Amino acid sequence: MQIAETISAARAACRSLRASGSELGLVPTMGALHQGHLSLVRAAQESCGAVAASLFVNPRQFGPNEDFSRYPRTFEQDCALLRSAGVSLLFAPPVEEMYPTGADTIVEVERLSNRLDGASRPGHFRGVATVVAKLFHILAPHRAYFGQKDGVQVAVLRKMVRDLNFDLELVVCPTVRDPDGLAVSSRNRYLSEPQRSQALVLSRALRAAEERVAAGERAAPALLACARRVLAEAPEVRLDYLALVDPDTLEDVTELRRPAMLAVAAFVGGTRLIDNVLLPP
Ligand code: PAJ
Repeated sequence: MQIAETISAARAACRSLRASGSELGLVPTMGALHQGHLSLVRAAQESCGAVAASLFVNPRQFGPNEDFSRYPRTFEQDCALLRSAGVSLLFAPPVEEMYPTGADTIVEVERLSNRLDGASRPGHFRGVATVVAKLFHILAPHRAYFGQKDGVQVAVLRKMVRDLNFDLELVVCPTVRDPDGLAVSSRNRYLSEPQRSQALVLSRALRAAEERVAAGERAAPALLACARRVLAEAPEVRLDYLALVDPDTLEDVTELRRPAMLAVAAFVGGTRLIDNVLLPP
């Protein structure tokens, strides 16, 4: 596995991977890799001849009071995981390489960026869209892989790809969960044991709503109330939002007529966790 720290080295490496006739898959990450990230790498390998990953803790997607400085950084371990997963190229630039002094251009997906997580984390999706647009330009993959775990991020990036005519396919992979249901996340390592058990209420609430849908319920207020009742079982967990939305527009839906995303965000201690499920009509 080649490790490129500069844009020019990464571009050259991708150019030669593409020249060898391989379709290139890209898995963008912020490191602290876990099974969720590795599932994206595996999906990329299934349909692309060569896989590149990026590892960049993007300062522009963290708010001033968020966890940028203490975000877990496990570079050596991440390299070992990617290497044994068969990744050809790791692009791991320093901050100055991605944002040299005077880098003023931003990508803003209007409207979508201000909903749900975007409402709670002003500027977050501007940072995400800007860095992902840069990665797409630098590495020029045929396909780029993202997790449904970050469902709002998927909606924002899908819209960006369409609006700015990126010539690539965005592939969305299912959320990887621990056996007890907790969605795997780099931030789970912030949780104490008791907090980790409290956090299970998120996936339990989503699961309860899924069961109501399987039993025939279609009305959003009933499904939201069902999930909210489960969330109330863990009063220590502070709800940020619970919403049933169209997965593309992120507009609230009142009834399940098309697939909808039931999404939740909550604080467990100081840790903000998110999860979602897609509910069939
Ligand atoms: P990060 O949180 O490192 O996640 C990288 C990718 O892994 C994202 O597409 C995310 O949705 C996916 N992922 C995380 N947990 C997952 C899980 N449990 N199951 C499946 N996929 C999962 O998301 C980011 O980084 C950044 O915003 C980034 C896109 C890299 C831009 O900086």
